[in-house]
Amino acid sequence: MTDEARDYEALIAALQAIADEVQVCTACELHKGRTHAVPGEGPVNAEIMFIGEAPGFNEDQQGRPFVGAAGKLLEELLAELELTRDDVWIGNVVKCRPPQNRDPRPEEIAACAGYLERQIELLQPKLIATLGRYSMEKFFPGAKITRVHGQARREGSRVLIPLFHPAYVLRNMNALPDAKRDMRKIPRLLARLEQVLTEEAANPAATESAPPPDEPEQLSLF
Ligand code: URA
Ligand code: SF4
Repeated sequence: MTDEARDYEALIAALQAIADEVQVCTACELHKGRTHAVPGEGPVNAEIMFIGEAPGFNEDQQGRPFVGAAGKLLEELLAELELTRDDVWIGNVVKCRPPQNRDPRPEEIAACAGYLERQIELLQPKLIATLGRYSMEKFFPGAKITRVHGQARREGSRVLIPLFHPAYVLRNMNALPDAKRDMRKIPRLLARLEQVLTEEAANPAATESAPPPDEPEQLSLF
């Protein structure tokens, strides 16, 4: 077995351990109403992670993220990149369905945050795309989606990009062209990130003046 294969096995096991914890988690009130928790899913070597808000009815029934109408639109948007849902990791900030799909409460988001943080730590995605207000708030505190959608930001060796939630687009179909345009930025962002990281590795002195990770650099170079 190669080292890489062993690493992937360990990674799969670690992600499964998180999923198992989520299934029996009682850390917030939302556990009471769930049919299935929705830990998130995707290939362990996914470069792109989409993070939505919380499971809805269909997700709760199936234990899988974005399997309802919003998921269908997400799949159509991914097709803009010639990707399918099997090419990316898809999850949510909150893993159990809020009653009547109400907004998740701050204490629920806080109780659930550790799972997503551990998933990100394990998966090490090159790009995180946020879908919806609560996911955006985690990575772009205080931002307004109508102003910042599609504006990527670099954070260390990763790119963050806030996208419209597909459920919002379904309710406001005039946002669809923007949603597609934002989505189509992703390959260019990944290529640009690769280029910047390669340049920095080749010329470490030039990075001394680069912003520290807590002052993220705008990647508005496109
Ligand atoms: N909306 C979300 O935010 N997440 C899902 O998994 C489904 C719909
Ligand atoms: Fe646990 Fe998160 Fe489900 Fe709350 S939403 S019970 S914190 S897994």
